[in-house]
Amino acid sequence: MEEREILTTRQGHPVQDNQNIRTIGDRGPATLENYHFIEKISHFDREEIPERVVHARGSGAFGYFETYGKAGNEPVEKYTRAKVFSGAGKRTPLVARFSTVAGAKDSPETARDPRGFAVKMYTEDGNWDLVGNNLKIFFIRDAMKFPDMIHAFKADPASNIPHPQRMFDFVSRSPESIHMITFLFSPWGIPATYRHMQGSGVNTYKWVNDKGEAVLVKYHWEPKQGIRNLTQEDADAVQAKNVAHATQDLSEAIERKEYPEWELFVQIMEDGYHPELDFDPLDNTKLWPEEQFPWLPVGKMVLDRNPDDFHMDIEQAAFGTGVLVDGMDFSDDKMLQGRTFSYSDTQRHRIGTNYLQLPVNAPKREVRTNQQRGQMDQRDANESGDNPHINYEPSMLGGFREATGESRPPHRPTYNAAAMSAPIDRPNNYGQAGETFRQFEEWEREELINNLSDALAACDVRIQKAMIEHFTQADYEYGRLVQAGIEQKIKELEGSAAEPNIPGRESGQSKFGQGT
Ligand code: HEM
Repeated sequence: MEEREILTTRQGHPVQDNQNIRTIGDRGPATLENYHFIEKISHFDREEIPERVVHARGSGAFGYFETYGKAGNEPVEKYTRAKVFSGAGKRTPLVARFSTVAGAKDSPETARDPRGFAVKMYTEDGNWDLVGNNLKIFFIRDAMKFPDMIHAFKADPASNIPHPQRMFDFVSRSPESIHMITFLFSPWGIPATYRHMQGSGVNTYKWVNDKGEAVLVKYHWEPKQGIRNLTQEDADAVQAKNVAHATQDLSEAIERKEYPEWELFVQIMEDGYHPELDFDPLDNTKLWPEEQFPWLPVGKMVLDRNPDDFHMDIEQAAFGTGVLVDGMDFSDDKMLQGRTFSYSDTQRHRIGTNYLQLPVNAPKREVRTNQQRGQMDQRDANESGDNPHINYEPSMLGGFREATGESRPPHRPTYNAAAMSAPIDRPNNYGQAGETFRQFEEWEREELINNLSDALAACDVRIQKAMIEHFTQADYEYGRLVQAGIEQKIKELEGSAAEPNIPGRESGQSKFGQGT
């Protein structure tokens, strides 16, 4: 046997017996000094880290982003000095993770649920994360509501049983979500695979050019493989046989060298209030109309390498909206700011204080920081600079120094407003929901009504009434069809058992002893 094939402990000791624990006699009892067994079992006991509080079910791959050097017909430098976009044909390595939102780590990938679309680019200026979803909008526009929304979308905390009433109870009191619900209950609510879905940054960011001038920007990923969605019936059929079809599809396509690609587009808007629009440009429940704000291609992403180890490469990957590089900035979008706190906060809990030292999360350029210690600190002592005694800044004695050269902050607006907790002044909760409904093809509309009616028929009548009212506000026909759909479903349900219909055969008298 070759040396490299020999099993060792984590201390590097060869393991001679990996089958039997040490006991007094061959039947037991066991002894406490059995180091190999205790190390093995106690490490196993700690194998799982907390799953993500949202987006727990996911998969991902590595690849690269390649620049076009332009944003549409303009040189991209007109809008941003971010080096990750400059020049044509430049490649930046990346990791991407796709996910569902509400389900647990091993839940079916056929859920009617938005899909996460997170990308971490290891740029020459440090990491850039774009943490998006497949749909281009979101349910809520204020971060304050996120924990309640997620509680409502997950199972009943007492019984652990999911029920659509929870989601619609919340949604019926949150009219800003009607647009997102319209997409989610249409066939766009269940992407067929991760390879065949779009991605979007959803929130509004800023791009900053060399002169410090900023524009608002929205990002969109468009799959070159085309877009494919599942109807509820399709999804049910897939789920009956496979709860990991999307992970399998992505992994096997890369294995076959059919590398999935997405083109990255941006929409650009001058920074400002834009009184001419009937919505707030920072409101993430709204689409920016394509005719006014055309999609400008800026590059493409190719995924060409599967993870070597799912836990190391994907489960421990940490994406966040605060991870921007020079040439990018936050917009005033208050939802984005709420998100930005939440990601790194949860990652310190989920993975640990030093999560940024893990290979998948660390930038590909050198890190020189005085942020030190904490559990599992793995900084390389050789990288502590010329004077390893100085772990503070500023200093005349050594240590790391601030970058020289002109600091080039983006031009920021001057604010003149009182501190307040208040909703935005242009909510327009129904306008785009109605437009989206009218733009669906006939079959998509039928699916939408059918899916909504199915879910709403199981809800309290007060919730049904409130939802019909919201849909009517969006489009009269939309409300009318949902109402008729619910009535129809209730008729069909009348007489049928309320309990879930679970088949099973009686096994008769136990042949295996009482109680088995
Ligand atoms: C994951 C918070 C809105 C996309 C997460 C996680 C948290 C979180 C705590 C788990 C992160 C981890 O454990 O690593 C929030 C809050 C939001 C919000 C507080 C609103 C205020 C959104 C929106 C999008 C989005 C609007 C889409 C644009 C994602 C994605 C992931 C994620 C894709 C999974 C990232 C991964 O693959 O690791 N979010 N989120 N979230 N969120 Fe959000």
